[in-house]
Amino acid sequence: MSRESIISRESQKIDETADESTLASLRPENLSEYIGQEAVIQKLTIAIKAALGRGEPLDHILFHGPPGLGKTTLAHIVSNEMNAGLVCTSGPALERAADLVGILTNLQQGDILFIDEMHRLPRVVEEYLYPAMEDFVIDIVLDPGPHARTVRLDLAEFTIVGATTRAGLITSPLRNRFGLSLHMQFYSTSELAEITRRSSRILNLEITDGGAETIALRSRGTPRICNMLLKRVRDFAQVEGKDAITEDVAVEAMDIHGVDEAGLDGLDRKYLSVIIKQYTGGPVGVAAMAATLNEEKDTLIDVVEPYLLISGFLNRTSRGRMTTLKAYRHLGLKRSSQEELPF
Ligand SMILES: Nc1ncnc2c1ncn2[C@@H]1O[C@H](COP(=O)(O)OP(=O)(O)O)[C@@H](O)[C@H]1O
Ligand SMILES: [Mg+2]
Repeated sequence: MSRESIISRESQKIDETADESTLASLRPENLSEYIGQEAVIQKLTIAIKAALGRGEPLDHILFHGPPGLGKTTLAHIVSNEMNAGLVCTSGPALERAADLVGILTNLQQGDILFIDEMHRLPRVVEEYLYPAMEDFVIDIVLDPGPHARTVRLDLAEFTIVGATTRAGLITSPLRNRFGLSLHMQFYSTSELAEITRRSSRILNLEITDGGAETIALRSRGTPRICNMLLKRVRDFAQVEGKDAITEDVAVEAMDIHGVDEAGLDGLDRKYLSVIIKQYTGGPVGVAAMAATLNEEKDTLIDVVEPYLLISGFLNRTSRGRMTTLKAYRHLGLKRSSQEELPF
């Protein structure tokens, strides 16, 4: 089901893959080009200006929030604004402490080390990061065994920019070593419409305000989705010989891909209908949902649920997930009287 979905769940989750290279040109490159996330941008701008003013490296920054909201983009922007080198890696890529030591010892003064999927950093590797982040040193054990010695290596002063979809899984010693912890929010429709218009300009597409608004409304609050939808609408307009992306063209193209007027796609609707039909509206645990839908639990938690929660289709209780009245209405289903009974 989700495999056929145009909004590939996997590419949303692990973002440094194919879609990144094609979307790369759509990335804003500096703070002034960045649309939305006002609170994040304000804090970031102050921190960057202050660090530049003092001629010091920037404090470590952690971006957290659902996939596709601009965390990687901001890491690039930070390095551009700081005029600093950027080295990119990710939690799962740093399997052994030696991998991290190799990267850290090669960093230059002021460099930005971007670590994506910070919550998947192995614990042994994480422990090397503590002194590196705090005092710019690492302790290396030589000749392990009875004659083990530790050697302390000095590092250049650098900045870690971390990104995670799961702030809750970051241990507190690690979290506490970030000077700034910035939460990314879903974007408003008007921000997404502006992003759609900007992307259309870059891609040389004619789009009406109605067309941009329609794509924005169906983008689940997420710039990555709005850029992907724009590309699918562009294909449709081209094949149908339309000169401009109007509201009608956008609606028709997105209907073909099963993206409805609330921005929900096949997997979103299936998720809600399974809770309603198989679990009488919930509460149901996420592990049971993952098994029923034959999806990864992480995909449900990172990609599917955040938007359903914020848009009021789903509630999360201590006993599990529950659908709301809005979900029944959206799917055109009725609540049975049995569900009204308190458990
Ligand atoms: N504020 C923005 N303005 C315009 N485009 C954006 C913005 N934020 C994100 N994007 C686009 O969305 C895509 C996904 O952003 P990305 O930074 O990769 O998200 P994340 O790392 O949070 O998953 C990027 O390719 C970029 O083009
Ligand atoms: Mg990313």
